[in-house]
Amino acid sequence: MKLFKKKTSAPDTSKIKHIAFIMDGNGRWATRRGMPREYGHTVGAKVFRRIVEYCSDIGINCVTVYAFSTENWKRPEKEVSALMELFRVYLKDAVATMMKRDIRIVFLGDKSLFPEDIRETMLGIERDSINNKNRLNIAMNYGGRDEIVHAVNELIAEGKKEICEEDITSHLYTLDAPMPDLIVRTAGEIRTSNFLMWQSAYSEYYFTDKLWPDLNERDVDEAVCVFNRRKRNFGGV
Ligand code: IPE
Ligand code: IPE
Ligand code: MG
Repeated sequence: MKLFKKKTSAPDTSKIKHIAFIMDGNGRWATRRGMPREYGHTVGAKVFRRIVEYCSDIGINCVTVYAFSTENWKRPEKEVSALMELFRVYLKDAVATMMKRDIRIVFLGDKSLFPEDIRETMLGIERDSINNKNRLNIAMNYGGRDEIVHAVNELIAEGKKEICEEDITSHLYTLDAPMPDLIVRTAGEIRTSNFLMWQSAYSEYYFTDKLWPDLNERDVDEAVCVFNRRKRNFGGV
């Protein structure tokens, strides 16, 4: 006789085509340990990889992570250069894993502000992974407002005099990615901080107080389970 039903399986992800993460709380995580904020970013980068791999394990084929916003340049120079150094090391390192998992990487945001070597690395990664089936969007120097302005400027350059919603959608940095079904934000902040403004019109949000470096697979399971209990109306009844 079975007394307990063992919970072994991952949650049902069939309704999630795209999950996005606002990876917040690295600084606080480090400060609480008496460490410099930069240390939090290093640990956060490892967690990023682990979470992306887990999403792919449980069958979510499109993941977006918010790594650096258009506003994050305002941070002290020491922190910004530590983040650039982390991108240098981490981007190349992460790529091998993503290639093995058939993941196409697309960077969301204006690459022109990054140092040339990082920009070249980003372009190379996008080129090399272009035929992969699954998708990882890494938002770097990304802002939702900047993205919409960029889309509109492209449409103007194409000579458009009047536009429709589809025109904007098809000129976003996310290209052909589906709209995010679920957006997870860590570290207790209940705001979007300029993330996927257009795409999130009907996204479900999941907020957790956990700081990004503490996030684990069970937390993703929990977010997915909460999502599965939500009723989405998309304006209908
Ligand atoms: C998120 O963590 C990572 C980036 C924005 C690059 P934070 O650095 O914002 O961490 P907190 O919010 O200060 O704790
Ligand atoms: C949002 O976090 C940006 C990223 C996670 C990359 P922030 O820490 O920059 O957001 P605010 O400033 O608290 O709104
Ligand atoms: Mg923050």
